[in-house]
Amino acid sequence: MTERKKLRSQAWFGGHDKDGFIHRSWMRNQGHPSHMFDGRPVIGICNTWSELTPCNAHFRLLAERVKRGVLEAGGFPLEFPVMSLGETNLRPTAMLFRNLASMDVEESIRGNPIDGVVLLCGCDKTTPSLVMGAASCNLPTLVVSGGPMLNGHYRGGLIGSGTAVWQFSEDVKAGKMSLEDFMDAEACMSRSVGHCMTMGTASTMASMVEALGLGLPQNAAIPAADSRRNVLAHMAGRRIVEMVHENLTLDRILTKANFENAIRVNGAIGGSTNAVIHLIAMAGRIGVELSLDDWDRLGREVPTLVDLMPSGRFLMEDFYYAGGVPAVVRALGEQGLLHRDALTVNGRTIWENCEGAKNWNEEVIRGFDRPLVEHGGVAVLRGNLAPDGAVLKPSAASPHLMKHRGRAVVFSSIEDYHARIEDPALDIDETCVMVLQNCGPKGYPGMAEVGNMGLPPKVLQKGITDMVRISDARMSGTAYGTVVLHVCPEAAAGGPLALVRDGDQIELDVEARTLHLHVSDAELERRRKDWTPPEPAMKGGYQSLYVEHVMQADKGADFDFLVGCRGAAVPRESH
Ligand code: FES
Repeated sequence: MTERKKLRSQAWFGGHDKDGFIHRSWMRNQGHPSHMFDGRPVIGICNTWSELTPCNAHFRLLAERVKRGVLEAGGFPLEFPVMSLGETNLRPTAMLFRNLASMDVEESIRGNPIDGVVLLCGCDKTTPSLVMGAASCNLPTLVVSGGPMLNGHYRGGLIGSGTAVWQFSEDVKAGKMSLEDFMDAEACMSRSVGHCMTMGTASTMASMVEALGLGLPQNAAIPAADSRRNVLAHMAGRRIVEMVHENLTLDRILTKANFENAIRVNGAIGGSTNAVIHLIAMAGRIGVELSLDDWDRLGREVPTLVDLMPSGRFLMEDFYYAGGVPAVVRALGEQGLLHRDALTVNGRTIWENCEGAKNWNEEVIRGFDRPLVEHGGVAVLRGNLAPDGAVLKPSAASPHLMKHRGRAVVFSSIEDYHARIEDPALDIDETCVMVLQNCGPKGYPGMAEVGNMGLPPKVLQKGITDMVRISDARMSGTAYGTVVLHVCPEAAAGGPLALVRDGDQIELDVEARTLHLHVSDAELERRRKDWTPPEPAMKGGYQSLYVEHVMQADKGADFDFLVGCRGAAVPRESH
């Protein structure tokens, strides 16, 4: 029998001294027999289960399935909790805590006797926070996503998480839907365990996990309630043990080529703009240079193939039955839009995993000859209003507004917007450009998902459903519209967005990738002299740390002191 490599966990469990006694003895109170400490791989199962994160509320069962696989392969599974970020309940916004959760993950992994880790991710921010934290440690790591909810059904039609809420609430304001019907729809939307089943941020990030090679094939689309989700978790448990033996660390998976594949897949699935920020932050943790220009360059030539809400008609359950991410990867590979040799966690390349994938429904996953949107991806706009860039999702925008010049109507905060948007005296019509300031990383703080401001009722009542909207905020991945987001630098950091005034002319040209404020440099300079930064919402505590250290959206909105991989060297003994 070949001698096993001495694993990291043996620095805790392998000694025959006082410290070895301490590390093993207390663990034995859970009933672990002696042979569990014999040098077998210790697998941490990083769990974001929480009843306050409804999208991840089924994760205790998922963790048990991972444990079965780990035990079967001869590993020692140990589950541990980390901060769970639930999109719907957490205020002021879950994004404020993404970096905090990543610190929890990083220090929990490094500080404990763990040789490899399985990350259980679901609701939007739970994927990037866990991957970011794990990337800063660089152990063998495998992601298991929790899976989407089953399709929502309402009165004979499909309704999708989030997307239906935005649509119905506008319908109520426009007088097209009664409040009673609106309340009725609530229970029809979320009818099983799992996360949002539109191609929102959670489904996008689960697809990114698969495209990056961080998860097993079909990680993204198997519904949470489908027994095959538990099989995937079981197989992930088996595989992570092998990954430890192979020393298949995260830096061998998260290469520039894998990120480029993920960007292309994001274009083809019509993924969320939030993926731009999260992938840049994840890349920063593992030492890969990834920029907004990469997003624009790689996304431009990719059509959106997947016809899912919010851009299209179907939902994640349909996507799974149609073939899921592997079918999309195959389509991209056949067009020469894939790094075929990018390695994945199962030890095979992404092409080896997907070259035989079938597309079972060409309405859900369209071909290159009849895409949902010709130019998918994420458009990166620049100009004197966004010197460091801004983003727009063409597949969610209205074609007639992709080139538009209009008069600015400015809201200085989201509270200002809420206070005035329903005022019949507000001087606004559908040709105007709605501008929202002070909702960026520092301004909100946490860069809330408020960029898709609802239209004024008096415009909605005319039957108009879209206007150009510009902000330094983010937008829910389930939302849609001609919405320019992530304007950098943000208003609260003194970016030009802070200097826009009512009545200014703004010109958007998505094809030319420009965003221009038609105000002279001299006038902008004069306005800048009068500008003062907004008062922080809270003084002291975590929010102060956040505002002081958060970088702008084009840098992934990570903390400046968290960028980079610090490795998993065993910390010194304390007893
Ligand atoms: Fe959790 Fe949408 S609210 S994934």
